[in-house]
Amino acid sequence: MRIVWSPDYELGILLIDQQHRRIVDYINDLDRLAGQPDAQMGVARVLYDLVDYTESHFSFEEALMERAGYEGLDDHHHLHRKFTFHIESLMRRHEEGVDVAEPLLQVLEKWLLHHILEEDRDYTEQVRDFIDSIGRERLGGWVNDNLRKHFRVS
Ligand SMILES: [Fe+2]
Repeated sequence: MRIVWSPDYELGILLIDQQHRRIVDYINDLDRLAGQPDAQMGVARVLYDLVDYTESHFSFEEALMERAGYEGLDDHHHLHRKFTFHIESLMRRHEEGVDVAEPLLQVLEKWLLHHILEEDRDYTEQVRDFIDSIGRERLGGWVNDNLRKHFRVS
Protein backbone atom coordinates (compact mmCIF):
# COMPACT_ATOMS: atom_id res chain seq x y z
CA MET A 1 0.00 0.00 0.00
CA ARG A 2 1.35 3.37 -1.00
CA ILE A 3 -0.07 5.34 1.90
CA VAL A 4 -1.14 3.79 5.17
CA TRP A 5 -3.70 6.00 6.86
CA SER A 6 -2.55 7.27 10.22
CA PRO A 7 -4.49 8.93 13.05
CA ASP A 8 -1.92 11.75 12.72
CA TYR A 9 -3.70 12.75 9.50
CA GLU A 10 -7.01 13.28 11.27
CA LEU A 11 -8.30 16.78 11.88
CA GLY A 12 -11.10 15.63 14.16
CA ILE A 13 -13.70 16.81 11.65
CA LEU A 14 -15.32 13.54 10.63
CA LEU A 15 -16.68 14.74 7.32
CA ILE A 16 -13.35 16.09 6.15
CA ASP A 17 -11.36 13.17 7.56
CA GLN A 18 -13.57 10.76 5.61
CA GLN A 19 -12.94 12.70 2.42
CA HIS A 20 -9.19 12.78 3.01
CA ARG A 21 -9.29 9.01 3.59
CA ARG A 22 -11.21 8.56 0.37
CA ILE A 23 -8.50 10.45 -1.53
CA VAL A 24 -5.88 8.21 0.08
CA ASP A 25 -7.92 5.15 -1.02
CA TYR A 26 -7.94 6.48 -4.59
CA ILE A 27 -4.18 7.05 -4.42
CA ASN A 28 -3.69 3.46 -3.25
CA ASP A 29 -6.04 2.16 -5.98
CA LEU A 30 -4.10 4.04 -8.62
CA ASP A 31 -0.79 2.83 -7.23
CA ARG A 32 -1.99 -0.77 -7.26
CA LEU A 33 -3.27 -0.57 -10.84
CA ALA A 34 -0.49 1.54 -12.33
CA GLY A 35 2.12 -1.21 -12.49
CA GLN A 36 -0.17 -3.87 -13.92
CA PRO A 37 -0.22 -4.96 -17.55
CA ASP A 38 -3.49 -4.35 -19.43
CA ALA A 39 -4.73 -1.97 -16.77
CA GLN A 40 -4.80 1.17 -18.92
CA MET A 41 -8.59 1.49 -18.84
CA GLY A 42 -8.66 0.99 -15.09
CA VAL A 43 -5.81 3.47 -14.58
CA ALA A 44 -7.56 6.08 -16.71
CA ARG A 45 -10.81 5.69 -14.78
CA VAL A 46 -9.12 5.98 -11.37
CA LEU A 47 -7.12 8.98 -12.61
CA TYR A 48 -10.28 10.85 -13.57
CA ASP A 49 -12.15 9.84 -10.43
CA LEU A 50 -9.22 10.76 -8.21
CA VAL A 51 -8.80 14.21 -9.76
CA ASP A 52 -12.55 14.81 -9.81
CA TYR A 53 -12.98 13.73 -6.20
CA THR A 54 -10.01 15.81 -5.02
CA GLU A 55 -11.36 18.94 -6.71
CA SER A 56 -14.84 18.27 -5.28
CA HIS A 57 -13.31 17.87 -1.85
CA PHE A 58 -11.56 21.24 -2.20
CA SER A 59 -14.75 23.06 -3.09
CA PHE A 60 -16.69 21.32 -0.30
CA GLU A 61 -13.96 22.16 2.20
CA GLU A 62 -13.98 25.79 1.07
CA ALA A 63 -17.78 25.94 1.42
CA LEU A 64 -17.45 24.63 4.97
CA MET A 65 -14.75 27.19 5.79
CA GLU A 66 -16.92 29.95 4.37
CA ARG A 67 -19.94 28.78 6.35
CA ALA A 68 -17.79 28.76 9.49
CA GLY A 69 -16.61 32.33 8.78
CA TYR A 70 -12.94 31.33 8.49
CA GLU A 71 -10.92 34.43 7.62
CA GLY A 72 -8.08 32.50 5.95
CA LEU A 73 -10.39 31.23 3.21
CA ASP A 74 -8.87 33.30 0.37
CA ASP A 75 -5.35 32.08 1.12
CA HIS A 76 -6.54 28.50 1.45
CA HIS A 77 -8.48 28.76 -1.80
CA HIS A 78 -5.29 29.99 -3.45
CA LEU A 79 -3.38 26.89 -2.22
CA HIS A 80 -6.12 24.64 -3.61
CA ARG A 81 -6.09 26.51 -6.93
CA LYS A 82 -2.34 26.15 -7.32
CA PHE A 83 -2.54 22.44 -6.70
CA THR A 84 -5.56 21.99 -8.97
CA PHE A 85 -3.67 23.80 -11.74
CA HIS A 86 -0.78 21.38 -11.29
CA ILE A 87 -2.88 18.19 -11.43
CA GLU A 88 -4.89 19.51 -14.38
CA SER A 89 -1.71 20.11 -16.35
CA LEU A 90 -0.75 16.48 -15.64
CA MET A 91 -4.18 15.35 -16.85
CA ARG A 92 -3.67 17.26 -20.10
CA ARG A 93 -0.45 15.31 -20.59
CA HIS A 94 -2.37 12.11 -19.87
CA GLU A 95 -4.78 13.08 -22.64
CA GLU A 96 -1.81 13.49 -24.98
CA GLY A 97 -0.90 9.87 -24.26
CA VAL A 98 1.81 10.41 -21.65
CA ASP A 99 1.87 7.97 -18.72
CA VAL A 100 1.30 10.33 -15.81
CA ALA A 101 0.29 7.84 -13.10
CA GLU A 102 3.60 7.88 -11.24
CA PRO A 103 4.21 11.67 -11.39
CA LEU A 104 0.62 12.26 -10.32
CA LEU A 105 0.97 9.82 -7.44
CA GLN A 106 4.15 11.52 -6.28
CA VAL A 107 2.64 14.99 -6.44
CA LEU A 108 -0.55 13.91 -4.68
CA GLU A 109 1.18 11.92 -2.00
CA LYS A 110 3.63 14.67 -1.12
CA TRP A 111 1.27 17.58 -1.44
CA LEU A 112 -1.81 16.02 0.13
CA LEU A 113 -0.09 14.74 3.24
CA HIS A 114 1.73 18.03 3.73
CA HIS A 115 -1.53 19.92 3.18
CA ILE A 116 -3.47 17.77 5.66
CA LEU A 117 -0.72 17.90 8.27
CA GLU A 118 0.03 21.61 7.96
CA GLU A 119 -2.33 23.90 6.11
CA ASP A 120 -5.66 22.26 6.93
CA ARG A 121 -4.75 22.56 10.63
CA ASP A 122 -5.21 26.32 10.36
CA TYR A 123 -8.96 26.14 9.88
CA THR A 124 -9.60 23.09 12.09
CA GLU A 125 -10.39 24.82 15.37
CA GLN A 126 -12.75 27.35 13.89
CA VAL A 127 -14.60 24.79 11.79
CA ARG A 128 -14.87 22.45 14.76
CA ASP A 129 -16.28 25.24 16.94
CA PHE A 130 -18.74 26.11 14.21
CA ILE A 131 -19.87 22.47 13.90
CA ASP A 132 -20.32 22.24 17.68
CA SER A 133 -22.37 25.45 17.74
CA ILE A 134 -24.72 24.86 14.82
CA GLY A 135 -26.30 21.62 16.07
CA ARG A 136 -26.62 18.26 14.41
CA GLU A 137 -29.89 18.82 12.61
CA ARG A 138 -29.01 22.10 10.90
CA LEU A 139 -25.55 20.82 10.07
CA GLY A 140 -27.03 17.65 8.54
CA GLY A 141 -29.17 19.70 6.16
CA TRP A 142 -26.25 21.85 5.14
CA VAL A 143 -24.00 18.81 4.64
CA ASN A 144 -26.51 16.97 2.46
CA ASP A 145 -27.10 20.03 0.27
CA ASN A 146 -23.40 20.66 -0.14
CA LEU A 147 -22.39 17.06 -0.77
CA ARG A 148 -24.92 17.06 -3.61
CA LYS A 149 -23.70 20.41 -4.87
CA HIS A 150 -19.96 19.68 -4.90
CA PHE A 151 -19.53 15.95 -5.53
CA ARG A 152 -20.14 13.91 -8.65
CA VAL A 153 -18.30 10.74 -7.66
CA SER A 154 -18.23 9.24 -4.18
FE1 LIG B 1 -7.42 22.11 2.18
